[in-house]
Amino acid sequence: MWEQRGASKRLIGFSRATSDHAFNATIWDVVVHPDFQSKGLGKALMRQVIKKLRSEDISNITLFADPQVVEFYRGLGFMQDPEGIKGMFWYPD
Ligand SMILES: CC(C)(COP(=O)(O)OP(=O)(O)OC[C@H]1O[C@@H](n2cnc3c(N)ncnc32)[C@H](O)[C@@H]1OP(=O)(O)O)[C@@H](O)C(=O)NCCC(=O)NCCS
Repeated sequence: MWEQRGASKRLIGFSRATSDHAFNATIWDVVVHPDFQSKGLGKALMRQVIKKLRSEDISNITLFADPQVVEFYRGLGFMQDPEGIKGMFWYPD
């Protein structure tokens, strides 16, 4: 997401997704510049990413939410542990 002022363009929001181009995608690194937060831009950015993934027929969209943003994602329709499914992590010893 960019702010355009005359000829100058500034990056103010960012998100990316990885996908298997069939069923599944995971959204990463959702961020809105602090000066532009709480104006609905994060929601608009997420809706755009979801729209793009849906246009490619992706039906399962996942993400990892920091604890302080769980409600942000819930407002967009994301569910925690649907049908009891748990995210699991592996780290080297
Ligand atoms: C999380 C983030 C992307 C939200 O973007 P934003 O532009 O401030 O959010 P919006 O203004 O679009 O808010 C959309 C809705 O979510 C709510 N919301 C936003 N941040 C929230 C939070 N941290 N907790 C609960 N609700 C939140 C808003 O109140 C708003 O609710 P409404 O639709 O009922 O009015 C932004 O705060 C950010 O970049 N934070 C730092 C990076 C980060 O934590 N990213 C997530 C990593 S998992």
